[in-house]
Amino acid sequence: MSGLSLAFDTPQLAQQYEVRSAERQFVNGQRLVAALGVRAGERVLDIGSGTGLLAEHVAGLVGPTGKVLGIDPLPLRIEIAQRKAKENLSFQVGNAYALDGLPSGSFDVVYLNAVFHWLPEKTEPLKQIHRLLKPGGRLGITTGAKDQPNLLQRIKREVLSRAPYAAYPESLAGTPHWVTADELSALLGGAGFTVQKIETQQNVHHQPDGNAAIAFSQASSFGNFLGHLPESLRSQAIDDIKRELEAFRTPEGIRLEGKRLLAVAHKPASH
Ligand SMILES: C[S@@+](CC[C@H](N)C(=O)[O-])C[C@H]1O[C@@H](n2cnc3c(N)ncnc32)[C@H](O)[C@@H]1O
Repeated sequence: MSGLSLAFDTPQLAQQYEVRSAERQFVNGQRLVAALGVRAGERVLDIGSGTGLLAEHVAGLVGPTGKVLGIDPLPLRIEIAQRKAKENLSFQVGNAYALDGLPSGSFDVVYLNAVFHWLPEKTEPLKQIHRLLKPGGRLGITTGAKDQPNLLQRIKREVLSRAPYAAYPESLAGTPHWVTADELSALLGGAGFTVQKIETQQNVHHQPDGNAAIAFSQASSFGNFLGHLPESLRSQAIDDIKRELEAFRTPEGIRLEGKRLLAVAHKPASH
């Protein structure tokens, strides 16, 4: 049981994500689709499309003869994404755990950009993606590297492990389910994929201050950052985390450095 909730999202968090992800997840996603070599005429599935910035970019790559479908379980994010819909680009509420409605062998490319760590159980979605891909079809994943958490993630863990928060171990339940490169490779192989590459990339960004760092995490985690802590303790925990983060602030802001994995795999052509 992950404790991750899809019920904490709000119109404000969805709108903030649309604005704030443009410099982060969207840029990383563009690298992912470049590594996947998405071409004109291809059919692409974006799982966990969020507000649709990357899917919109991919629709430009596949052109009028291709098609992109973005799915996401958060209706508020799909609502924003749907404003970008056009002839070759559509969005619908959907879930990595409910892919069985989509036809087998119907996509050239499937990708999850900054989504894989939000899946507590990863084998079933990977098996479904394998089914959805045409023989030779490609899968792309970007996700945080488990063994390289950034400063904010480390401070959050530390603060929550102390009193009074430690009495609520489920407060960490909304924490992402990151993997190591080896774990990712084993998961992909186990689902029938041939791994083409798994790169570990530097993931550095600056946030102006503690407030901005936490706001970005809230929008990216659709409200799960501290969502499971009792309401009465939440603002106190945020203050504690902010105070510890601020101790690291320099004139450039707060440097958050972690590692990210970029994986490209394919379904063998003989399947
Ligand atoms: C950090 S956002 C990434 C959004 C988008 N891929 C991007 O590149 O900006 C994480 C997304 O994962 C989605 N997500 C969480 N659980 C999911 C699931 N079970 N199936 C599909 N998407 C999921 C969330 O709704 C959220 O939109």
